[in-house]
Amino acid sequence: MQAKNKPVNKIRATSHDSRTTINILGIETSCDETAAAVVADGKTVKFSVITSQTKLHEKYGGVVPEIASRAHLEKICPVITEVLQQAQAGKDDIDAIAVANRPGLTVALIIGVTAAKTLSFAWAKPLIAIDHLHAHIQSAIFTSNLTSHEPRTTNHELTLPAVALIVSGGHTSLYDYHSPLEPKLLGSTIDDAAGEAFDKVATILKLPYPGGPAIEKAAKTGNPNAIAFPRSMLEPDSLDFSFSGIKTAVLYYCHGQDMKGENKVDSMSQQQIADIAASFQAAVVDVLVKKTQRAAEKIDAQTVLLGGGVAANNQLRIRLQQICDSSAPPKKLLIAPKQYCTDNAVMVASLAYHNFKAGLFAKLTLEPHAGCLTTKNA
Ligand code: KG4
Ligand code: ZN
Repeated sequence: MQAKNKPVNKIRATSHDSRTTINILGIETSCDETAAAVVADGKTVKFSVITSQTKLHEKYGGVVPEIASRAHLEKICPVITEVLQQAQAGKDDIDAIAVANRPGLTVALIIGVTAAKTLSFAWAKPLIAIDHLHAHIQSAIFTSNLTSHEPRTTNHELTLPAVALIVSGGHTSLYDYHSPLEPKLLGSTIDDAAGEAFDKVATILKLPYPGGPAIEKAAKTGNPNAIAFPRSMLEPDSLDFSFSGIKTAVLYYCHGQDMKGENKVDSMSQQQIADIAASFQAAVVDVLVKKTQRAAEKIDAQTVLLGGGVAANNQLRIRLQQICDSSAPPKKLLIAPKQYCTDNAVMVASLAYHNFKAGLFAKLTLEPHAGCLTTKNA
């Protein structure tokens, strides 16, 4: 099978640094994007390529691991070659190879990990293992030094401590962030991730994949108060999330409580579908914002960081901005620009700069791990 996917996102460096800088080649294959980037000193993007597999997975309404793995295998060498060529970087210009080795789909992670280990061995360069979720946090921070992204209203300086909300297709996690190398997990989803809920509800509403952008688009003309979908807050002090209930509520709404009826979506008006999308989005955003607020109060955060694919959602960005502005004293909000919300290798190479400085290198026996680092309450 030939993958017909095309690179969808290429970012060229705006300036060249002298050779006193640290250049890191980052590699990312944790889910359905094959990505590589060369980043100097953790903040200057020399070149970045992201190849998306969306077209391959859309007919299944979610990522199929075997298809993802095969597509990564086909794309990894061309993507790395293109990044190195465009960044005008060869073996002598690269100081380390960084790769996201957890969490993610093992069969997908292994392609990036193998490529990184091979280059590390062949070029005799240090290997750096990066946690994909920690890299998403980094995408909200390093981009405060970039000029080529959409304007943000808040002060871009990071003041600690910070609380980080990472919302993606596979994870929904809150972190106590004191340093790039040691974010502490405060809470995470006990069932579906927020992005997964967007994707599943889009399937119920017969909207295209990936569901997040499709629901956001449909919700624009909808009434967010039309349907009172449940907001699962769990225990009063819990910082965990649960999104399976709201997904089931949408399913019941469309099929009827006994689930015996057909999906009524085909006979619904555009307005009814827009109302479901808007009401669902409002409920998910409500939970994400309230839990982030709860976490920020708990650790007395000065800054809120937002990253991951769902961070591209405008309602979430607006609501978080409102709670940051209205808290006393106001909190800073750093949000990854949309091009760095979804998976990319810039965030991997950028975070790896801190590992490099700290001398934290991986061995050539590095393996991929599907699960998260369980530093909760550590
Ligand atoms: O971070 P990401 O690229 O991949 C994972 O690590 O999972 O996130 C992908 C997820 C998908 O579930 C997609 O539906 C969701 O991010 N997403 C959005 C939006 N754009 C992408 N969810 C809500 N609103 C959006 N605008
Ligand atoms: Zn991700």
